[in-house]
Amino acid sequence: MSVQTLAARASLRRFLKPFVGEAVSPPPIWLMRQAGRYLPEYRATRSQAGGFLDLCYSPKLACEVTLQPIRRYGFDAAILFSDILVVPDALGQQVSFVEGEGPRLDPITDAAGLTKLDPAKTAGKFAIVWETVQRLRQDLPSETALIGFCGAPWTVATYMVGGRGSVDQAATRSLAYQQPALFGELINILIDSSVTYLSGQVKSGADVLQIFDSWAGSLPDDEFQRWVVVPTQAIVAKLRQLHPDVPIIGFPRGADVASANFVEKTQVNGLSCNTSMPLAHMARLAAETNAVVQGNLDPLLLVAGGSALEARVAETLSVMRGKRFIFNLGHGIVPQTPPEHVARLVELVRQAA
Ligand code: CP3
Repeated sequence: MSVQTLAARASLRRFLKPFVGEAVSPPPIWLMRQAGRYLPEYRATRSQAGGFLDLCYSPKLACEVTLQPIRRYGFDAAILFSDILVVPDALGQQVSFVEGEGPRLDPITDAAGLTKLDPAKTAGKFAIVWETVQRLRQDLPSETALIGFCGAPWTVATYMVGGRGSVDQAATRSLAYQQPALFGELINILIDSSVTYLSGQVKSGADVLQIFDSWAGSLPDDEFQRWVVVPTQAIVAKLRQLHPDVPIIGFPRGADVASANFVEKTQVNGLSCNTSMPLAHMARLAAETNAVVQGNLDPLLLVAGGSALEARVAETLSVMRGKRFIFNLGHGIVPQTPPEHVARLVELVRQAA
């Protein structure tokens, strides 16, 4: 499939307008983890799938759960339903999701572990995800943008090395200090497979890409440059060569004061901001960098609802008015979120015209 120009797609899909320099009011809205356990229809489809990865590798069911929040709320963008851990799984690492506990991987801690990864093997599993993207582009309303994604090398590596989620990514930070050459090889494998994976998503119909670096905030500044900025820069540069018309959003969660430098060095087209970023700083980043800014409502405010939610949404819309801005959360929707609060949020944002 050939990719239409960004300008042509932006005239069809308002989500893309900030990326061609237009500040739109009301701002486009989508929410990280908009498909998920807070929706009863997600839980119903999930129970048909077997394991969580089976859901990710079923184009029919993955397409269905991607569409569910679009049907309910009419978000301006859909995000492909998949997971950042599809990449290690496709590379041949053992990945499983334990009910109620999260992901478990067979940890890579030495050169022998690394040699088990086989980039030549990824095509089979990636092709299943690309088929989901193709179906989505056919089934989505033409005015809805489609976001493809992957995890950033640093964040994916924290799961590959640690074998599970952790609060401080200690195992991975230690490996990066003690065996930087080995760790660098892992990061290089992830750079190359991420480019292959994302480029396939674009050829299958993704309009925009987001790179999730959920644990970017755990590194000191020199390590942040080495393992967050440089690998992301490499991915963006390669993709831009292949697909100059596809905007890329970075989400270096916790980058805080390093955010402007991240945008400048990586050349991402969008910056997703976490919850602790002050709105005034987001407004400044939107004015002073080339990036569209996205964020950053606290997901727990969406659980709380009521006047606290209304006040913060009003403040966000007021501070970000006239800026190239996309309304989102600062991190993913949590499972205990009442679906009617999401409906209220969309209503509040759309009233901003
Ligand atoms: O946003 C979306 O709606 C698209 C789908 C999506 C999922 N995961 C589905 C999912 C996306 C974009 C992700 C990204 C992801 N996955 C990240 C980066 C963003 C972030 O949240 O920080 C990370 C770190 C992961 C790894 C991961 N996947 C963890 C740690 C977990 C367990 C935590 C949990 O919520 O259970 C998952 C599982 C997962 N990925 C679920 C969903 C809907 C829940 C699994 C289930 O249905 O049982």
